Amino acid sequence: MIEIEPARASDRPAIEALLRANALPTAGIELALGTAVVAREEGRIVGCAAIEPHGSAGLLRSVCVELGRRGFGLGRLLVERAETLAAARGLAELFLLTETAADWFPRLGYEAGPRETAPAALSGSPEFTGACSAGAALLRKRLSPETPAG
Ligand SMILES: CC(C)(COP(=O)(O)OP(=O)(O)OC[C@H]1O[C@@H](n2cnc3c(N)ncnc32)[C@H](O)[C@@H]1OP(=O)(O)O)[C@@H](O)C(=O)NCCC(=O)NCCS
Repeated sequence: MIEIEPARASDRPAIEALLRANALPTAGIELALGTAVVAREEGRIVGCAAIEPHGSAGLLRSVCVELGRRGFGLGRLLVERAETLAAARGLAELFLLTETAADWFPRLGYEAGPRETAPAALSGSPEFTGACSAGAALLRKRLSPETPAG
């Protein structure tokens, strides 16, 4: 059975290993661990999603599902649970940069936009300053307190 739950501080090494195995950046992950969720299967982490808070905006990052667990809706559930955590923390809008899933996030309500429209506060995030290439697509989604739990 797979359970989706808030990440614990002790999950950091397993999250970083999952990100590295899927060629996703780990730089700055500590900024997002307080608003991160994991999918746990018999104690093992098979998926994660995290949000770096920057003022009233958040950077959704590190959305990842282990190869053998993809295609069962876990990715969607992880993002929805991370959104719920973010909304509960008062974040109004989420942004993300992606080189690999620009066609997937619109299914979850994210819309592509020019990178320059990201709030200045996010520009200092490690993903903006280097971990993600300049060619990565920017997507955004406005959150409401009614954002459904996964
Ligand atoms: C993107 C990702 C998290 C999706 O996880 P998942 O658990 O398979 O997602 P879901 O089961 O909710 O959705 C599966 C559907 O999305 C599609 N999909 C999955 N990844 C996709 C991608 N990168 N681009 C476009 N569509 C994608 C699948 O084909 C499937 O389509 P279907 O429902 O028509 O069959 C997973 O593929 C992954 O970890 N990729 C590598 C890391 C990555 O690129 N992360 C995003 C950047 S931060």
